[in-house]
Amino acid sequence: MIAVDGYSACGKSSTAKEVASRLGYVYIDTGAMYRAVTLFFLQNFINLTNPKDVKSALDQVNVSFIPNPNTGINEVYLNGFNVEEAIRGMEVSGKVSEVSAIPEVRKAMVYLQRKLGKNKAVVMDGRDIGTFVFPEAELKVFMTADFDVRAARRQQELLERGEMIGFEEVKKNLQHRDTIDTTRKESPLKKADNAHVIDTTQLTMEEQIEQIVQLAKSIIDQ
Ligand code: DC
Repeated sequence: MIAVDGYSACGKSSTAKEVASRLGYVYIDTGAMYRAVTLFFLQNFINLTNPKDVKSALDQVNVSFIPNPNTGINEVYLNGFNVEEAIRGMEVSGKVSEVSAIPEVRKAMVYLQRKLGKNKAVVMDGRDIGTFVFPEAELKVFMTADFDVRAARRQQELLERGEMIGFEEVKKNLQHRDTIDTTRKESPLKKADNAHVIDTTQLTMEEQIEQIVQLAKSIIDQ
């Protein structure tokens, strides 16, 4: 089990995806799970402050992963529909931290994550994988990068999706998410004591991928 945790927009998902593919492991994007739930809540106008509404909404949510037939990489499905694209826009990004801070939501997703990871040979990325979901993971990585670099990367990502968002707005969204992610009551974003820290500010994608692959190989070969 390889746990890749860290801040938003420091290249976690792209890195974890490629690490999984080089090792022949399954990739699970837990952020995508919280995003899919958020999309459902937005589509159905769920009142986040009403626990009854949240609970009955969760009963109607089915999040699953199916590999893309061309790439072999897992994509996220919400109630049978592929939502890999729909969950990446600013609307979901603006709400996902609030939704993922709700204890009932976390309980449901963590249950699913543990089920998905039980056969191992998995790279799972998120915020609390090494600290809470799989504290016994054989390899834990904590990714970080300078705030402005992360914001620039996120802005570029949005631009590639056709969303032109000003730098200040992207920074505001990131700051907002960092604050909620690190201060929420339930398993906040935090480095696990035995995690390897990778600061990606000065690294290329290839360098960060290789660092993790090498760490993994040294453990697998033991
Ligand atoms: O990795 P991401 O940016 O797609 O994650 C979206 C949000 O989901 C993030 O702001 C915090 C939340 N999240 C979480 O609380 N726990 C996880 N394991 C993964 C993501």
